[in-house]
Amino acid sequence: MRGIALTNQKGGVGKSTTALNLGAALAEEAKRVLLIDLDPHAGLTFSLGYNEPETAFEKTAYEVLDPDKHLPLREVAVQTAIKGVELIPSHQDLVEIDYRLAGRTGWAQTLKRRMRDAADYYDFILIDCPPSLGILTRMALVAADLAIVPVQAEWLALRGLHLLNRVVQDIKSETEHVNLETRYLVTMQTPTKHAEEIQGEIRAHFGELVYRTVIRRSVRFADSTLAGQPLLLFDKDHQGAQAYRDLAREITLETSKETNAYEHTTPVSARQG
Ligand SMILES: Nc1ncnc2c1ncn2[C@@H]1O[C@H](COP(=O)(O)OP(=O)(O)OP(=O)(O)O)[C@@H](O)[C@H]1O
Ligand SMILES: [Mg+2]
Repeated sequence: MRGIALTNQKGGVGKSTTALNLGAALAEEAKRVLLIDLDPHAGLTFSLGYNEPETAFEKTAYEVLDPDKHLPLREVAVQTAIKGVELIPSHQDLVEIDYRLAGRTGWAQTLKRRMRDAADYYDFILIDCPPSLGILTRMALVAADLAIVPVQAEWLALRGLHLLNRVVQDIKSETEHVNLETRYLVTMQTPTKHAEEIQGEIRAHFGELVYRTVIRRSVRFADSTLAGQPLLLFDKDHQGAQAYRDLAREITLETSKETNAYEHTTPVSARQG
């Protein structure tokens, strides 16, 4: 199981859209996918067609993180309309989770432990973070192996990313989570000279950490969200859908390379033991 957090404290950069469409693309490759909506605004839950999330679910991400309940992911997950994709829905009460966790220790590991417990059931767990660097995003980063940062190709795109990097570095050292990787995804790219320049700037700054796949701006994404579907189902041959398939391919290739590298460096005795 690989845990991926979609994160950027800047709002509206494509975190939820990426969680949804990347999840759908991984499921097309026969991967078992769990989406976790950790944003109290429930953008991801809405975009899966659940228009009244406050009443639609008996159990939500809140009950997973609530220290008095701490429900297993498998007890909360619902099957979505997308084959191979399950969802942990969000709940607006998540806004007060920091208050519920105040004074408690070990909260940072809560989600990580729950994801580990469910590791046999999913190949990928995608966590959609709220646009903040608060407790919910921190929990997601502690739990994830990979943080994907969608970056909109527009003016001031890089502004604030050093803050996110600082949080990632803090988490790595505080929790000895040395394997947490960060990658950047250029989203909402327009065919303008300006956007090309910004993309160049992003690539110059982050080098190989930027995915080759670029998500171009298209109104079809908003159309599909309104229809409660990923673009991969709503307009399956659209270039935007294809781009998310390309991204899924980049990620699965990287994952299998890492697994192979690990196998090659693990002594046979250790593997058999
Ligand atoms: N490639 C794209 N081209 C055009 N519109 C897009 C694209 N990706 C996402 N959108 C639209 O932009 C809006 C913001 O996207 P999204 O909700 O995915 O961002 P977000 O980072 O999750 O936002 P928030 O921080 O508020 O949760 C949505 O209306 C979505 O449909
Ligand atoms: Mg969102």
